Amino acid sequence: MALIKLFRLSTFLAVIDTLHAGVVGRQCATTLSNATLVANQLQLHYYNHSTGRYNNGRLWTDASSLEDLHNLMLATDSSYIGKAALDPYTDWMKFLNGSYDDAQWVILALWKIADYKTARSRDGSAYISSATKIYDMVAGQWDDTCGGGVWSSTNHTYKNAITNEQFLLTSAAGYLRANNETYLENAEKEWTWLSASGMRGSSGLFNDGLKLGSCQNNGQTTWTYNQAVVASGLGALYAATRNTSLLDQAEVSLDATISSLAYKGILRESCDLTTSGGKTCDHDQQIFKGIWTKHLQYYLDNVDDTSRITKYSDFLGSQHSYVVKYAMNPAYDVGSVWYAPNEGGSQWSPAASASGLEALISAGKVRQYVYTR
Ligand SMILES: *[C@@H]1O[C@H](CO)[C@@H](O)[C@H](O)[C@H]1NC(C)=O
Ligand SMILES: *[C@@H]1O[C@H](CO)[C@@H](O)[C@H](O)[C@H]1NC(C)=O
Ligand SMILES: *[C@@H]1O[C@H](CO)[C@@H](O)[C@H](O)[C@H]1NC(C)=O
Ligand SMILES: *[C@@H]1O[C@H](CO)[C@@H](O)[C@H](O)[C@H]1NC(C)=O
Ligand SMILES: *[C@@H]1O[C@H](CO)[C@@H](O)[C@H](O)[C@H]1NC(C)=O
Ligand SMILES: *[C@@H]1O[C@H](CO)[C@@H](O)[C@H](O)[C@H]1NC(C)=O
Repeated sequence: MALIKLFRLSTFLAVIDTLHAGVVGRQCATTLSNATLVANQLQLHYYNHSTGRYNNGRLWTDASSLEDLHNLMLATDSSYIGKAALDPYTDWMKFLNGSYDDAQWVILALWKIADYKTARSRDGSAYISSATKIYDMVAGQWDDTCGGGVWSSTNHTYKNAITNEQFLLTSAAGYLRANNETYLENAEKEWTWLSASGMRGSSGLFNDGLKLGSCQNNGQTTWTYNQAVVASGLGALYAATRNTSLLDQAEVSLDATISSLAYKGILRESCDLTTSGGKTCDHDQQIFKGIWTKHLQYYLDNVDDTSRITKYSDFLGSQHSYVVKYAMNPAYDVGSVWYAPNEGGSQWSPAASASGLEALISAGKVRQYVYTR
């Protein structure tokens, strides 16, 4: 619970240049950044994770503090992405720069903002309709080259794992949200194609994509995130169909990650280096491990079999411990390397911090499941 609160606050951090939602008009961005700093420190310094109260607080001042945190979190309308969603004239093709994997990360963010607003009796419809427009653009990228699949970008040079795994997820999750059969058909069509595409190697891990001419697995890197986004898509398709073979298929990739892409039980991207000098992870790659943890959580959200959930709780708990032990600095920035102490190779960026944050949230959420189910 506490982690979830911290998460919402930190989500806010990323979108600090903001309007205060509909209530008081334009807010000064620096005021809100100071507000965020104070709020974060309030949580860090006083919030007691075991009691769910502020140390040395009072019932009514705690209530007021909770209200403040939520006021702050509602002030996200004018993040760059949020503003685009509220503007009915946004040219999404231009905004997304022809990239259909980027497009689908934006869909997931817009759905989350919409849900947050809707749950608080605010209008989330602009976020939903923008997500629908983007989804339709992605769905339009399906064709028969290599037997099916969506293209990764408008230039039609690559059919890859991530864009198609995301399409499985946005289609299946989109069906669960709107009950529109087109989405379910797309999800089924995507999994049928993806599972037979050859992109999953004999180890159970998905490689990056297909060689265009031959339509064979291109043998490129088995990134961590590819192994969990497919699982969250399969979890959503399972929720729609109750076909448990889909969960078995998800576990193939999740288990292969644990056996092949971790060092002593801690996720390690192939580009993660403790010392400086080698070929390190680029900005995109610095968030992949966190995406793995987040999508494992999304997968588990749809799994109703306790043994399938508890199977992963220790692993997620270990990611949490080692992010805190090795990756986090005293200012709560998180570096890119989790599996060993940083000797100059860990990288510091919003992507690396978000990655660490995702590990902490997923661990917190999954443990909660284990206790309450
Ligand atoms: C906090 O407010 C002061 C005074 O308005 C401003 O100069 C400063 O930039 C703000 N700090 C942040 C982190 O925005
Ligand atoms: C949380 O509150 C309990 C009960 O008052 C107290 O024993 C404990 O030390 C507090 N924990 C922290 C980290 O302040
Ligand atoms: C758009 O894509 C092109 C080609 O991939 C790239 O050079 C450019 O930096 C991208 N622009 C933005 C705003 O991301
Ligand atoms: C196609 O687009 C992708 C993503 O924008 C870019 O990385 C790639 O370099 C482009 N390929 C060509 C041949 O333009
Ligand atoms: C279902 O989704 C498709 C694709 O987004 C859309 O074209 C169609 O209008 C939707 N159907 C309904 C009944 O909303
Ligand atoms: C259940 O999923 C498995 C794995 O993808 C698939 O082979 C099978 O055809 C599905 N069963 C039904 C009834 O759709």
